[in-house]
Amino acid sequence: MARFADRSARVGIVGLGYVGLPLATVFAEAGFSVVGFDVDGRKVRMLNEGASYIEDVPTEQVAPLVADGRLRATADFAELEACDAVSICVPTPLRKTRDPDISYIMQATEEIARHLHPGMLIVLESTTYPGTTSEIIIPRLKRNGDDLTIGEDFFVCFSPERVDPGREDWTTKNTPKVMGGATTACLEAGAALYGQVIDTVVPVSSTESAEMVKLLENTFRAVNIGLVNEVLLICDKLGLDAWEIIDAAATKPFGFMKFTPGPGLGGHCIPVDPLYLSWKMKTLNYTARFIELASEVNTSMPRYWTQQVQDALNEHGKALNGSTVLLLGVAYKKDVSDLRESPALDIMLLLEEKGARVAYHDPYVPAFQHDGLESTCVPDLDAALASADCVVITTDHSDYDWPAIREAAALVVDTRAALRRLEPVPAE
Ligand SMILES: NC(=O)c1ccc[n+]([C@@H]2O[C@H](COP(=O)([O-])OP(=O)(O)OC[C@H]3O[C@@H](n4cnc5c(N)ncnc54)[C@H](O)[C@@H]3O)[C@@H](O)[C@H]2O)c1
Repeated sequence: MARFADRSARVGIVGLGYVGLPLATVFAEAGFSVVGFDVDGRKVRMLNEGASYIEDVPTEQVAPLVADGRLRATADFAELEACDAVSICVPTPLRKTRDPDISYIMQATEEIARHLHPGMLIVLESTTYPGTTSEIIIPRLKRNGDDLTIGEDFFVCFSPERVDPGREDWTTKNTPKVMGGATTACLEAGAALYGQVIDTVVPVSSTESAEMVKLLENTFRAVNIGLVNEVLLICDKLGLDAWEIIDAAATKPFGFMKFTPGPGLGGHCIPVDPLYLSWKMKTLNYTARFIELASEVNTSMPRYWTQQVQDALNEHGKALNGSTVLLLGVAYKKDVSDLRESPALDIMLLLEEKGARVAYHDPYVPAFQHDGLESTCVPDLDAALASADCVVITTDHSDYDWPAIREAAALVVDTRAALRRLEPVPAE
């Protein structure tokens, strides 16, 4: 605790991705000596050269920390031996069967268990189902440290990450951080360390509660996005403009929170995390109905938009089969390059299946290979806009010149309502 308070403790971060790298820099900036562990040699090399590979963490922020020796990376887990605390920030994806894949957590835990030593604090940050810390992590740590007692000799917490990539107002430091400990002493140790670098630590009664808080937050978003997507489908049938209705409802100063419809859910959190909870509930013979329903609506959206493209072309006397369709934006949300679970890719695949010639433009994604799809960004946006039979706005990146796009495109299907925000085209 004293080493946390005077910041002389050595902090290890296992997994240096979107979550781990910002966390590592926050600890290093506060004066801790930080060592990041990653199995990806490219990330280890880049970080040790003082370069960032995550958009939210500028190289100018990382370089001085590396130069000062306060931050470095390694693939050698033996260095865990010298760490007073270690935070686990490894991926928690889904398997092909849509079940949780906690193999990365298990691998990281095995490494930590091999180097567990008295006084060590272990904090899991990866999003996962309630029970992971107590059922998966603690038994593995105990197996290797059977002479060590949890809450006395070593300390375990769960503290979910809330980072929103691309966001500048809420950062790792100023976003309140929920934390649950395996014992009271574990929570005290976790809060003592994180309290040095995070403005507000919010304690909860157990690691399971902390795990559930994160799943509630992301399920809340998935369900509400599912609801507005269904409102879009309903309004379509009623001949109403869903965005007009949502914008008007959002003028209510209380009791309404605005969510917007779109091409479907993307990113590796909102589409994935609720399924961790529904999987856990299935093991308890309970169906998490809201999660299943929201997932069903949200995953149906790419098909809905593909049909919209087909109908729009049809109105112009064209078949989707053989038409040239240009997708604007393949990232899952604006102003990032992240393609994980991006619904734009589902739309691309569905359009190709129906015989369309699909090209894309994305200022953040020069080329990609993802889940069997591969493509290269069109080199000349103006030429691509002029020659496309239909332009589909799949990601509303801030860089796009929307009036120019509206002017240049023969036909637009706008899944993000990007053009809706423009002044109407003046009458001739
Ligand atoms: N990205 C977000 O916006 C976000 C937000 C909140 C929570 N989370 C959660 O945080 C966790 C990490 O997400 P992320 O976006 O940082 O993932 P990421 O893929 O960007 O980074 C994970 C890193 O862990 C490394 N890794 C994998 N196995 C490892 C191992 N055994 N040892 C060391 N390193 C290993 C990978 O090489 C990668 O660099 C996930 O559980 C995710 O759900 C992410």
